[in-house]
Amino acid sequence: MSLFEIKERIESIVKELNEHNYRYYVLAQPTLSDFEYDKKLEELARLEKEYPEYLDPESPTIKVGGYITKEFETVKHKWPMLSLGNTYNEQDLKDFDERVRKVIGNDFEYVCELKFDGLSISLSYENGKLMRAITRGDGTQGDDVTNNVKTIRSIPKTIKASGYPESFDIRGEVFMHQAAFERLNNERIDNNEIAFANPRNFASGTLKMQDSTVVAKRPLDCFLYFLYTEKYSYKTHWESLEAVKNWGFHVCEHTKLCQNIDHVLKFIHYWEEHRFGLSYDIDGIVIKVNNLSQQQELGFTAKSPRWAISYKYKAQEVETILEKVTYQVGRTGAVTPVANLRPVLLAGTIVKRATLHNSNEIKRLDLHLGDTVLVEKGGEIIPKIISVNTSKRDNSALRVLYPEVCPECKTPLIRKEGEAVHYCPNDEECPPQIVGKIQHFIGRKAMNIDGLGDETIDAFFKKGFIVHISDLYTLYEKEDLLKQIDRFGEKSISNMLEGIEKSKQMPFEKVLFGLGIRYVGETVAKKLAAYFKNIDSLMNASFEELVTVEEIGERIAESLIEYFKDQKHKVQIEQLRSHGLQFESVQKMVDLESTKLEGKSFIISGVFENYSRDELKDIIEANSGKIVSSISPKLNFLVAGDNMGPAKLDKATKLQIPIISDDDLIKMLQ
Ligand code: IVH
Repeated sequence: MSLFEIKERIESIVKELNEHNYRYYVLAQPTLSDFEYDKKLEELARLEKEYPEYLDPESPTIKVGGYITKEFETVKHKWPMLSLGNTYNEQDLKDFDERVRKVIGNDFEYVCELKFDGLSISLSYENGKLMRAITRGDGTQGDDVTNNVKTIRSIPKTIKASGYPESFDIRGEVFMHQAAFERLNNERIDNNEIAFANPRNFASGTLKMQDSTVVAKRPLDCFLYFLYTEKYSYKTHWESLEAVKNWGFHVCEHTKLCQNIDHVLKFIHYWEEHRFGLSYDIDGIVIKVNNLSQQQELGFTAKSPRWAISYKYKAQEVETILEKVTYQVGRTGAVTPVANLRPVLLAGTIVKRATLHNSNEIKRLDLHLGDTVLVEKGGEIIPKIISVNTSKRDNSALRVLYPEVCPECKTPLIRKEGEAVHYCPNDEECPPQIVGKIQHFIGRKAMNIDGLGDETIDAFFKKGFIVHISDLYTLYEKEDLLKQIDRFGEKSISNMLEGIEKSKQMPFEKVLFGLGIRYVGETVAKKLAAYFKNIDSLMNASFEELVTVEEIGERIAESLIEYFKDQKHKVQIEQLRSHGLQFESVQKMVDLESTKLEGKSFIISGVFENYSRDELKDIIEANSGKIVSSISPKLNFLVAGDNMGPAKLDKATKLQIPIISDDDLIKMLQ
């Protein structure tokens, strides 16, 4: 691969995995299996290691993954909620065992736990009372879902037993039992509501509901698997689980103490076979070093503990019949085929649909209607067709032909050279594209408009209130019409209008991202805004100038040129500008060179939203500050971003070194 191709490859994996994280954590509609995800993550980590100059601060190798939803209060976790390294084979597990041995020697035990397939939750207790329940979110901060969690019967609201610490956090997994899932999902199907793909999605959808009374009607359960206290009074994880059990928490009875890796493997084999007999889904086994001081000795990487790992079970397969293929049109006009299957039970859930990705996939499988297909599904994925059993094909079966026109607006589809996806080019009139673009614009990562959700946008479009994002800014003129929308009262309308008004203050980079230009993701929008400073310079930039910008490849440059060539887009931008949206970057007033930081030493750690670590380093040095490499009592400031290593944080706190944010640093220079 040429350097250019490597850069492109890194960009494309980062984008794909981040998009997948969004689907997984926000939409609860994952499209990639864990296995595929981890393979891509591995490739990315390898490329980034070899070519660190292309490391993206948004990379999922740095970020823990996960998102925060906008409807709940966001709360910072006291201890970051990390993920676990995954393994899929025994050799990887033996390698893990070797790594552990190298650090702590041979005298240790493992605790093996089931890996519950739900959502992780962090519960905080003060004086025996449940104070807060926070979802994992992005690992650093999550959603406060306390009211919903209080409806879960197996979680004590007040601890009745004694001997618990005054203040502690406890982590576990919220999930739904299969029987409850089947019953409630069938009710939904009867009511013509969209069915959930699996118990995990049902649990996740439930926990994120605004109305706790509805949550209370959906039986959720929770297994707890990790205790955090300021002072450890327990020597081992096992002891802490025993204690937690005595305080009334639900700890899984299958948790087992294992003396060595062979016992661990026995446990894994046993549950590989017996997992379908459980009343809930598991997707693997979690292996933890038992002794807590040994855990401390092993420490953490940026994303996960070195003292624990998960072993994931392979996906399950089953045969069923392909009934028809339908097509979904996304906001960029991409047309995705979906296989509609004869419902079949697979790994505990009923499967009715499978993703087909694009027309190449249909060709690869040489799909015919009525085909007997082999479907695969891991714990958390939308199922996938692996192969067709052609021996069972009827002679008269019709070949599946990818459509030539858009299934929604009948415009002839196009496919760019070298791309696998077909697009509907009618971005101005094709309904799902219009709605999708406006939904993207209001989304959390773009304009983050409070009081306005995807369903409302859909309803507004159907009523003809909006056909373009600029129409959002004239909605206030239609207040009376808005009341026609079901369950949209005066309060909701005023909240929404306030949210829209506020969005006019969103910075240029968010507006640029919100426009939904193909390939212009969050990071790219930031880079473009920082470089061009305003929309006019960006619109006038040539292809040659665009590709000189850091992170802007040919594909993105082409897409920008094409977007701004379109007169309609120019008109729309002018409309948005006239409504007062920000199309210019506000300069941060920072002294470029000074002696303001003379005699001061700094360490930069973690990931920052607005700067790379190198940029911060340059700023400090240009203002006569010194960057040092290790935390000592002499250090003046620790500049901390997201996902900083807990060991560093711990040391700095102990030495009482001021921990400042990038904003604080900039303020020192203003
Ligand atoms: S321990 C720092 N134990 O798996 C270690 N996690 O990939 C924290 N999970 O986010 C996790 N069962 O949602 C742990 N017995 C178990 C688990 C478990 C399921 C989930 C959890 C976590 C993810 C990590």
